[in-house]
Amino acid sequence: MAGTTIIRARVAHTPRDPFAADDALETFDDGAVAFADGTIVATGPATDVLAAHPEATVHDRRDCVLIPGMVDTHVHFPQIPVIGAMGLELLEWLAQRTLPEEARMADLDHAQRAATRFTRLLALNGTTSALVFGSHFPQAQHALFEAADASGLRIASGLVVSDRNLRPELEVTPEEAYARSTELRARWHGHGRLRYVITPRFSVSATEAMLDACRALLDDEPTALFTSHVNESPGEIAFVKELFPKARDYIGTYEDAGLLRPCSVLAHNVHVSDEGLHRLARAKTAVAHCPSSNAFLASGIFPMARHVEHGVRFGMGTDVGAGTGLSMLKEALVAYHVQMVRSEGHMLGPAHLLYLATAAGAKAIGLEAVAGDLTPGKAADLVLLKPPPGGTLEAVLEEAPDWSAALGAIFTLAREECVVETRVAGDIVFRR
Ligand code: GUN
Ligand code: ZN
Repeated sequence: MAGTTIIRARVAHTPRDPFAADDALETFDDGAVAFADGTIVATGPATDVLAAHPEATVHDRRDCVLIPGMVDTHVHFPQIPVIGAMGLELLEWLAQRTLPEEARMADLDHAQRAATRFTRLLALNGTTSALVFGSHFPQAQHALFEAADASGLRIASGLVVSDRNLRPELEVTPEEAYARSTELRARWHGHGRLRYVITPRFSVSATEAMLDACRALLDDEPTALFTSHVNESPGEIAFVKELFPKARDYIGTYEDAGLLRPCSVLAHNVHVSDEGLHRLARAKTAVAHCPSSNAFLASGIFPMARHVEHGVRFGMGTDVGAGTGLSMLKEALVAYHVQMVRSEGHMLGPAHLLYLATAAGAKAIGLEAVAGDLTPGKAADLVLLKPPPGGTLEAVLEEAPDWSAALGAIFTLAREECVVETRVAGDIVFRR
């Protein structure tokens, strides 16, 4: 058995929900997190934690801010190369830039390189858990699982399945989708830190028969997850209405197939009625809020306050490549900007941004017992942040009068170059 390890740093986390409680944020100026066998055993003032564990190995990182590992609830593994494809709305962006890029995943060498690079970039950005939208090609998806397994990250992902309206090479029959997904799920679900996610791309590219196959897959393995896109852009929503004339609305296409479940995570949900929110809340289905993508593709503004009012669980997703990068710190800043300019917007503060980047995501993807904050009993999923010397963030932090100012500055100015160490269950998965 490995001994106890202590990391001494400036510590901040959100053990409570800031949308529901005023005291959500917990901080320690000279703090420490102790862990043993991958599990946190103490979080608190450094003097207390050090005194309680005199035998521990101590890492003095008082030059760093320590936060929980970040949780990206929606990110596309094949799409790193299309980050920054400007001037297009969703359906144009898919047809002109993204689906041709995803077709390149048929080449196994390319897929293996992309998978290794993708998981490295997640860890380098301080993301310790992610729900990853996979590839349409089984070998490429297998490569992603291999790279994810080697990376040590908590990755949930699965084969993307579609049977219409994409490109022929990205389409399969529902029977093929069922067989190939079953094979990958049997190989990878529950292996190490990996989980399987049943993943029809969106209702535009899935017939009722395909959604039925997805339901069968979920019935076969109820501990798997389900993900797709919903209510993202006006053009997409109009198309779904044509394709599913009998469905109540876009959410109804998944609902009718029995796919609205507590293990389901639907990305975007920008254009949604109160009644739709009510149905999501009743089904306990989670939403992945993707603010930079919503702005980048001109999809619309996420009604965050209405999700809170209706009690719909939501985490945050970078949605790379429509999203503008893998940094959950930057994603939180975009969420902040957009909600601030929204006239009836929810007023967000630093505690909300920290929560959205960490614990909210863990709750959305079924990891609330394991990750998201630094409470003893949870896994030691941690990120150390340190401003590059001589830069703006360092200057602001030197002057910050309190934690609210410091965290506000971090979310406004910190990017991947500020992440100096990332750990999952105490294991180092990235160190600068
Ligand atoms: N809807 C269907 N596929 C996609 C995708 O790759 N990105 C986004 N943002 N929306 C989608
Ligand atoms: Zn997406």
